[in-house]
Amino acid sequence: MIRSGTRIRVAGDKSVSHRAVMFGSMAKGTTRVRGLLDAEDVGRTVEAARKLGASVQNVGRELWVSGSPWRDTGEVDCGNSGTTARLLLGALAPRAGATLHGDASLSRRPMMRVIGPLRRMGAEIEGGPTLPVAVRTAEMHGIDWVAEVASAQVKSAVLLAGLCAHGTTRYTERVATRDHTERMMRGMGANIRLEADTVVVEAGPLSAADITVPGDISSAAFWMVAAAIHPGASLVLEGVGLNPTRTGVIHVLRRMGARVDVEDHGGIEPIGTVTVTGAELRGTEIGGAEVPTLIDELPVLAVAAAFAEGQTVVRDAAELRVKESDRVAAVVDGLRSVGADAEARPDGFVVSGGTPVGGHVDTRGDHRIAMCFSILGLRVPVTVSETDSIRTSYPAFLATLEEVRA
Ligand code: S3P
Repeated sequence: MIRSGTRIRVAGDKSVSHRAVMFGSMAKGTTRVRGLLDAEDVGRTVEAARKLGASVQNVGRELWVSGSPWRDTGEVDCGNSGTTARLLLGALAPRAGATLHGDASLSRRPMMRVIGPLRRMGAEIEGGPTLPVAVRTAEMHGIDWVAEVASAQVKSAVLLAGLCAHGTTRYTERVATRDHTERMMRGMGANIRLEADTVVVEAGPLSAADITVPGDISSAAFWMVAAAIHPGASLVLEGVGLNPTRTGVIHVLRRMGARVDVEDHGGIEPIGTVTVTGAELRGTEIGGAEVPTLIDELPVLAVAAAFAEGQTVVRDAAELRVKESDRVAAVVDGLRSVGADAEARPDGFVVSGGTPVGGHVDTRGDHRIAMCFSILGLRVPVTVSETDSIRTSYPAFLATLEEVRA
């Protein structure tokens, strides 16, 4: 059960936080960041920025990042953070040398999707298909690249290299992914534009900016689902990022029958208040172009599906298998452990709603799996194998869970 009416201000957006620190560290001047996510993953990017020569300091409630030309550094530990590793590969390639490594989970995740286009641009990268990977500074040139996987991390890596390459870089996406990089680069003075479904960037420096990090809609999604599975109860989420490339979770919850009221206050990265009121939910279908707009929210949407009437089918989401864990397997096994009916597909899963009874869930060391089954635990008794992983993206989650729990 939840305490209806609880107001929650979720932690800063992880994607925007990484970019603010990384882009700030290569920009001219001092970038002032408000609302940065204080979590292990972003800490990896901060540590890397310092090693590469930037000065990064907490000033009051802001983080000040003073950029500098990057210098070669030795080892950079990306920990569990795919965004740190993939964006850095592109950012480093024309600027400075380093060897990137990560924890056991990150060391299993595919890197060729980034290394491939970067090598075509002239990058000198040794290693792959997984970390560790060594980058040596290279003279690079623009390319015309058509995305092979829908990934904002790959797009960002190519655009970051493009800022420091000879000629124009074009990156075409058949399916749009989150556009935080494009928005922030534009805000920092880059010559970047969208031509139909192609992002075009010219070489040029970034200038420092004042950046406000919105609340992370991927973190807010846990509370959205917490409310959605409690008919008649509401939670109010303040300061949530509403970038339209990220709001799929809102559309899906509405389709499932929950009431979601949104007050959008605008901004380079739009921010607003989201109020979710629970209802008797019904199953839905999720696939195609909607998938990148909610890829990280699919595990918690599976929790909503477990309490819905009828089937929920997720397709076109094979990417889930190469996240911090194989999230198709983690979600399906987790749901089965709590007595729900779920089946894995190569590119997604099917959940037949009913009422889970509870049980013990193996998180596979994946922060989002730990959080989504903790949300399920608001309705039925659930224990999870660990909660340490939550530190990587949302350290305040467990405290907020106790505020929300009735
Ligand atoms: C992210 C992009 C997505 C997402 C990840 C963060 C980003 O990954 O799952 O949590 O900040 O660009 P992909 O680019 O692999 O889809």
